[in-house]
Amino acid sequence: MNNQDMHSVYANIRSKLGQRSLVLIGMMGAGKTTIGRRIAKKLNLPFRDADQEIEDAANLTVPEMFELHGEAYFREGEKKVIARLLNNGPQVLATGGGAWMNEETRKVIAARGISIWLQAEIAILMERVQRRSHRPLLKTDNPEKTMRALIDQRYPVYKLADLTVPSRDAPHDAIVQDLVDILEMHLERCPEQGTIK
Ligand code: S3P
Repeated sequence: MNNQDMHSVYANIRSKLGQRSLVLIGMMGAGKTTIGRRIAKKLNLPFRDADQEIEDAANLTVPEMFELHGEAYFREGEKKVIARLLNNGPQVLATGGGAWMNEETRKVIAARGISIWLQAEIAILMERVQRRSHRPLLKTDNPEKTMRALIDQRYPVYKLADLTVPSRDAPHDAIVQDLVDILEMHLERCPEQGTIK
């Protein structure tokens, strides 16, 4: 497809989205922020990162929040911030890996957007998270074992997302293109899903 055609695909997606947000979910290291930023740029939509917004609201980093107040405090803030952000669609919203595990958050997302699971194999996730060590949940004796346990617990729930995009070991643009294709098909098939009433 040439550039001109791609631009009309993006414009078509944007108009079909209306006020809905695209919400990226998935494990730490799945690429939600990186892919989210790129897809937002292509679709000419604002990009927001829930963790960043939680940090700004609390004036603390995520590790500081875990350290000073515990995970439950962080989760409460996460739920509120995501619900607030979802009043401001259309946008692309990247969420932290645990956000989708909250049922209320899943409901808010379903009412105001389209959820997209970036699904990745453990080897890819581990390679990506090992490059940065800011994630409090992985500060354990055996981060791979922890990641595996989280995968077992979370993948059955991530599967509930509207769309799944494999976050394979490929250039980011290839994954963005997969996402665009899958989203375009979805908007054709279920134009009303998540439409704000
Ligand atoms: C978490 C993932 C992190 C962050 C927090 C908890 C999780 O976000 O929200 O450390 O529970 O998986 P990323 O998925 O962006 O790393």
